[in-house]
Amino acid sequence: MKIAILPGDGIGPEVTAEAVAVIERLALPGLTLFSGDVGGAAYHRHGHPLPQETLDMARAADAILFGAVGDPSCDALERHLRPEQAILGLRKHLGLFANLRPARVFAGLEHLSPLRADIAGGLDMLIVRELTGDVYFGAKGQRMTEAGEREGWDAMSYAESEVRRIAHVAFRAAAASGQRLTSVDKANVLETSQLWRDVVVEVAAEYPGVALDHMYVDNAAMQVVSHPERFGVVLTGNLFGDILSDLASAAVGSIGLLPSASLGERQTDFGTFGLYEPIHGSAPDIAGQGKANPMATILSAAMMLRHSFAREVEAARIEAAVARTLADGILGGDLGGSHGTAAIGAAVRERL
Ligand code: IPM
Ligand code: MG
Repeated sequence: MKIAILPGDGIGPEVTAEAVAVIERLALPGLTLFSGDVGGAAYHRHGHPLPQETLDMARAADAILFGAVGDPSCDALERHLRPEQAILGLRKHLGLFANLRPARVFAGLEHLSPLRADIAGGLDMLIVRELTGDVYFGAKGQRMTEAGEREGWDAMSYAESEVRRIAHVAFRAAAASGQRLTSVDKANVLETSQLWRDVVVEVAAEYPGVALDHMYVDNAAMQVVSHPERFGVVLTGNLFGDILSDLASAAVGSIGLLPSASLGERQTDFGTFGLYEPIHGSAPDIAGQGKANPMATILSAAMMLRHSFAREVEAARIEAAVARTLADGILGGDLGGSHGTAAIGAAVRERL
């Protein structure tokens, strides 16, 4: 069981260290961890945010635990050298098209949400975000118009095969959990979304047991914070999924709590090859201060054990330990508490 650890920038190394300590505490036999440089850290050391060596290491692993990338000192670099290109490059090169972002308010922890407790209690959704297409990976550029103005442009597109394969992931998740599937698009304005909707309807024919509905993304944003109980599995494209998952995390209480799994088609000896990362970024403002909440990364490690290593029991133990830690009031600054990164990590390990 080979895990590549890619801590990255800002708070990435701090939160990743706590998740690694949790994995090590489980003392699973046959586990090998190795680590590599990624993001701004890699740029400063090797001149590139995703060095070939790191990409090779990621490919050789069964799973990747990723921290965060983003470094303000790189903001002026050409786009292809910026830290964000590391995560976008890993997703694309490794074919990790299916991003699972579960967001739920743990029972008894409704008070951590900025929403009214009676609303927050209904939040338990799985966002299935397409991760290797859309406006993220389309042609883009800046040009001069005929009138002599500067113009920025980004092409949005989805091929039907891209929509179909992510739709199957979402339908399977909905079928397995017995939840409704909501496909989120902007079909009232975008052709890309119209095709998306048409293909989702076609795929739905193969899943007669799954209740499907469609929602425009602006309405979905409103419903997430007013009627979160309406959502079970949410299927959406790359850009809308990026935005809705941050919104869902704020509704849970903190972006420091939401893990993610990015999966492709490749199977390893143990499960599905994947990359696991918190949905938050590198938070340069608090980096190096021991203040970051490591729970999202610890929960990402749990998702890794579940999807890449078929270790459901251990995954559930980690999730229960995190829930217990929260319930015991061991909270970081993101949740109005005063516990630091190391204290939260230690508290989760004690509860394992
Ligand atoms: C995320 C992040 C990334 C994204 C950034 C860092 C490129 O916001 O994983 O949600 O936009 O996908
Ligand atoms: Mg994001």
